[in-house]
Amino acid sequence: MTYPQELEAWWLAVAGRTLRLRDPKAVAQRLAETAGKLSDAFTVSRAKNFAGGYAAPLTVAAYGNYFFPQTYIRTQFTVGELLNFRGWTPPNPLRILDLGGGAGAALIAAVDLIVKKFPGMRFEAAVVDQSATALKLHRQLTRSERKRHLFKSVTVSADLTKPAAWQLTAPQDLIIASFSLGEAFFQQPDAAVRDWLAQVRRQLSVSGVLVILEPALKETAERLERLRDFVANAAARDWHIWGPCLHEKPCPLLAGQKHWCHEVRRWPVPPTVNRVNDKLRRSVWDLKHSFLILGKTPPPLTLTNDADIDKKARCVRLLTPIVSGHGKLLLSGCNADGEHAEYDILKRQLAKPDEKKLATLKRGDLGTLSAVKKLGGPRQYRLTSPDFTVSDA
Ligand SMILES: C[S@@+](CC[C@H](N)C(=O)[O-])C[C@H]1O[C@@H](n2cnc3c(N)ncnc32)[C@H](O)[C@@H]1O
Repeated sequence: MTYPQELEAWWLAVAGRTLRLRDPKAVAQRLAETAGKLSDAFTVSRAKNFAGGYAAPLTVAAYGNYFFPQTYIRTQFTVGELLNFRGWTPPNPLRILDLGGGAGAALIAAVDLIVKKFPGMRFEAAVVDQSATALKLHRQLTRSERKRHLFKSVTVSADLTKPAAWQLTAPQDLIIASFSLGEAFFQQPDAAVRDWLAQVRRQLSVSGVLVILEPALKETAERLERLRDFVANAAARDWHIWGPCLHEKPCPLLAGQKHWCHEVRRWPVPPTVNRVNDKLRRSVWDLKHSFLILGKTPPPLTLTNDADIDKKARCVRLLTPIVSGHGKLLLSGCNADGEHAEYDILKRQLAKPDEKKLATLKRGDLGTLSAVKKLGGPRQYRLTSPDFTVSDA
């Protein structure tokens, strides 16, 4: 997954005009401080009112050059899972809504990915945001750069927490809220988000899907885990969990309180992000986020079915990369039986090529282990074969 050069060039030009500078290096250096402040506002020092923060031209330029690319790739990882791992087939035309979409990074990323898999797909797109500046940029961006991708998007200046204000004229097939839900519901009780979820459901088409991306912080990830447990436990079964979980049992990570479910994904960092980061020195090569995908119907593709008890321990989403231990390789994952399980494999049983292959596994990889046996401890398994078929996500 790579960030398109034309988007990078477009945002660099926006920053150049704002700063009255031409040299990309000088532009990036000048953006670093503002990008750092924004990064803190999204994560460690989450402020009560983020709203005003998006209006200043320098902030917009820093966001577009540093965060827009990150949202783009994060969204493609997540929507990729929806299309490839879960086998979601979007209807044509596809109605897609980006909530708190800002300049529309998530929308554009989803459109680019869907068009790749379904050439000829047409889109009826909308972005809802409270920032007029961001929406204006989205309009400019879609006018100048995205013509070839055939979508026209409507911008709606509204509060994302109030679906009645979104001015929708038809049910939506895909709703994305990227790094906006936590901001809009900052310090509000979970019950407020649950009420919102019920209202969002009414805005979705029969086979509609909701994708939420949030920062990878314990606080934000656990809020998604609680929301997920709420829908999994609801008697009405209004929603089905399409990701990140392979099961609909209670979230084992939330129960354990020690780890929280989030992704850490490597990406090819675009030059401008690298240049801004030269000064910032954040770990920008690892994209970190948490996510939740909910569908109104069950996902078309699952790795197991209910009768498949043995397979449930073998179907796993990795929560860590492989770690080398004493005489063993170790990995941990959330399996289709709802367990946060530990798996090991004895090094002496491994040929070098198999060991090398296992070492390439990444956190977030989804797949099926070919053979495991249960060990004495709770949720502990030993791989009796090194084969792990990773699903295309
Ligand atoms: C961190 S930015 C994320 C932008 C974009 N979705 C992304 O992932 O790059 C949060 C966005 O949510 C918007 N936002 C926050 N609270 C909102 C609310 N109550 N109603 C509408 N938009 C909101 C902000 O204006 C901002 O554009």
